[in-house]
Amino acid sequence: KNINTWKQTQWPKLKNDLILRAVNGDKTDRAPVWVMRQAGRYLPEFLALRADHSFFECCQTPTLSSTLTLQPIQRYPLLDSSIIFCDILVVPQALGLEVLMEPQRGPVLPSPLIDPGHLTRLKTEVDVEKELGYVFEAITMTRRKLEGKIPLIGFCGAPWTLMAYMVEGGGSKTFEKSKSWLYKWPEESKGLLKRIADVCADLLIGQVLAGAQLLQVFDSWAGELTPHQFQQFALPSLLHISHKVHHVLSTLGHPSIPIILFPKGVHSPQSLRLLSDPKITGYSALGLDWTLDPVEVREIVGMKVALQGNFDPVVLYGGREGIEREVERVCNRWKLAGGGWIANLGHGITPGVKPEDMGWFLECVHRFSKR
Ligand code: CP3
Repeated sequence: KNINTWKQTQWPKLKNDLILRAVNGDKTDRAPVWVMRQAGRYLPEFLALRADHSFFECCQTPTLSSTLTLQPIQRYPLLDSSIIFCDILVVPQALGLEVLMEPQRGPVLPSPLIDPGHLTRLKTEVDVEKELGYVFEAITMTRRKLEGKIPLIGFCGAPWTLMAYMVEGGGSKTFEKSKSWLYKWPEESKGLLKRIADVCADLLIGQVLAGAQLLQVFDSWAGELTPHQFQQFALPSLLHISHKVHHVLSTLGHPSIPIILFPKGVHSPQSLRLLSDPKITGYSALGLDWTLDPVEVREIVGMKVALQGNFDPVVLYGGREGIEREVERVCNRWKLAGGGWIANLGHGITPGVKPEDMGWFLECVHRFSKR
């Protein structure tokens, strides 16, 4: 549907393009800022809406997803981007697996993929319009409601991170089951990663055609892999996604859309170097977690790729003075590092943060990231 309609769509003119400039490597007057999980349980208005609807109902109902996406935008005029409210686990659902969100435990997949024999349980052809069309509807609705104030980010999980959930049946500390797959069944693992990547790419393409102006791929568990495994398994599937997205969009005559990759926990210089050239990888920016130093990363990756991050999410519990001091310190490291910079936390904001502390954090980033 979107394949045929995007050309006719008239969008409101974009008033704040700071993040689109930073992701392309431009030095901006101050850093654009957004926060992973900015629509989440630290907001009373989020909890109020969630009280009446299950988590996946919120993801799958465009009006609810759109309302939740806009909650932090209405509360914090200092945010420079919105991100559509959804979850990375809608892709395993589209592939045919059941995913539940349990209040204390987080995501649970009651029937995980035990061994390659279970691969036949996955759909071979996934019609994303049919399975995930609600995401596209939510995007179109939300971009309209944003009235060009700030851009809208679309996203998906990375194949390795999704495979980990699909094999473990939920979160994990050791990733014993999913990493065993890589050792025992390397070829079947690559096949599974490729199948997941195809759905991820179609999901991202659909989001762009529906109105997403920027994309992010979340590889939350990339840091659990050895550098060798990252290069053998995770990276090829990440490249499959970016290349397919760019290729299909250009075939459709759509302007190219920048993609941010968040390879959480990937610290090996050889792996980072493989991600350092957007012309080769198709990823314009890399998200860093808080255990990395921006100056050190710049020395490894050079200046071609933009960077995002990387405040410790726990700084938001540091009180006004603690937040101010740390934001100033980290901003100074980023100024020293140079190149395109999108300010963000190094992982998602957590439920215990006070909403006013998030507001203060944003104020501090605006102030101390000024050049
Ligand atoms: O950033 C945003 O505001 C957009 C929405 C968004 C959510 N999840 C909403 C959400 C995004 C981008 C995600 C991505 C996501 N989901 C990731 C990658 C980022 C990361 O955190 O590493 C992962 C690994 C998931 C899977 C997932 N979903 C987990 C592990 C959990 C439980 C975590 C927890 O803190 O309990 C979720 C649930 C989830 N996704 C919530 C939200 C707001 C909270 C659950 C609730 O409302 O009950």
